[in-house]
Amino acid sequence: MHAGWTCRPDSDTLPAHRLVASRETRLIRIEDVSLSFGGIRAVDGCSFEVAEGSITGLIGPNGAGKSTLFNIVAGVLKPDSGRIVFDGETITGLPPHALFHRGLVRTFQIPHEFYRMTVRENLMIVPPEQTGENLFSSWFRWGQVRRQDAEIADKVDEVLAFLNIAHVADELAGNLSGGQKKLLDLGRTMMTDARMVLLDEPGAGVNRTLLGAITTAIRRLNEERGYTFCLIEHDMDVIAELCDPIIVMAQGSVLTRGTMADIRANPAVREAYLGHPETAEAE
Ligand SMILES: Nc1ncnc2c1ncn2[C@@H]1O[C@H](COP(=O)(O)OP(=O)(O)O)[C@@H](O)[C@H]1O
Ligand SMILES: [Mg+2]
Repeated sequence: MHAGWTCRPDSDTLPAHRLVASRETRLIRIEDVSLSFGGIRAVDGCSFEVAEGSITGLIGPNGAGKSTLFNIVAGVLKPDSGRIVFDGETITGLPPHALFHRGLVRTFQIPHEFYRMTVRENLMIVPPEQTGENLFSSWFRWGQVRRQDAEIADKVDEVLAFLNIAHVADELAGNLSGGQKKLLDLGRTMMTDARMVLLDEPGAGVNRTLLGAITTAIRRLNEERGYTFCLIEHDMDVIAELCDPIIVMAQGSVLTRGTMADIRANPAVREAYLGHPETAEAE
């Protein structure tokens, strides 16, 4: 019985009910987070929420603190102050692998040494706690290992088909184009059964055709798999096509949030991108 749970979005006991993507439910809350590098307040009292089932856009001028904030949420950097709550649990300062087990993942470029493996192999190695990795346990539980390997192989095929990259399954990852590599990054999150995915500029350096494939994959993962996304992107066409709401960061904190129409109509956003109005006029 889940009737009451959307009424208690703060509850620590929210069921992990992945496909009930209620826009009322805050999957992640960033509360008054700050981090300085030396004298630079990269993130400065930043607070916002991401609703479960949303594709939330994060935009703002260069240096606004977007990537630093992502690194804090993903457990790569520790904030000086503030709190991050994921699915009702405080996760501030947890390392990336602990977040990964909870279904909160950030896509990273595949490491260079993985370029010498095929696309299929890159997907095969993702699942955590593969029993097959441990010789001792595999000796004693070989039946389970074989079953698990077969399940993983099936899942890899499913991911390859979903992303339309089955034709490059046996290609070395290093031979992929920039856009195909980004699809592989998304595929790696699919192997983990992510709930929430942080994407830092999925469109950067990608040609138009593959950009379409990436936006389609993001939308389908959202609609069909119930993934929640928070994505940083400079390409406003991508943001306009995918994101609602859009959060605008400037100087380490949230300037405003709203739909694309709200953002476009907001003079403070224009000002943040252009700098001080006097400077903008002088240019
Ligand atoms: N590792 C770091 N050391 C020192 N300063 C940093 C570091 N990372 C980011 N900064 C600074 O923090 C601010 C925010 O950077 P960043 O989070 O990359 O912004 P954005 O992603 O919005 O462009 C910038 O002034 C940047 O120069
Ligand atoms: Mg950045």
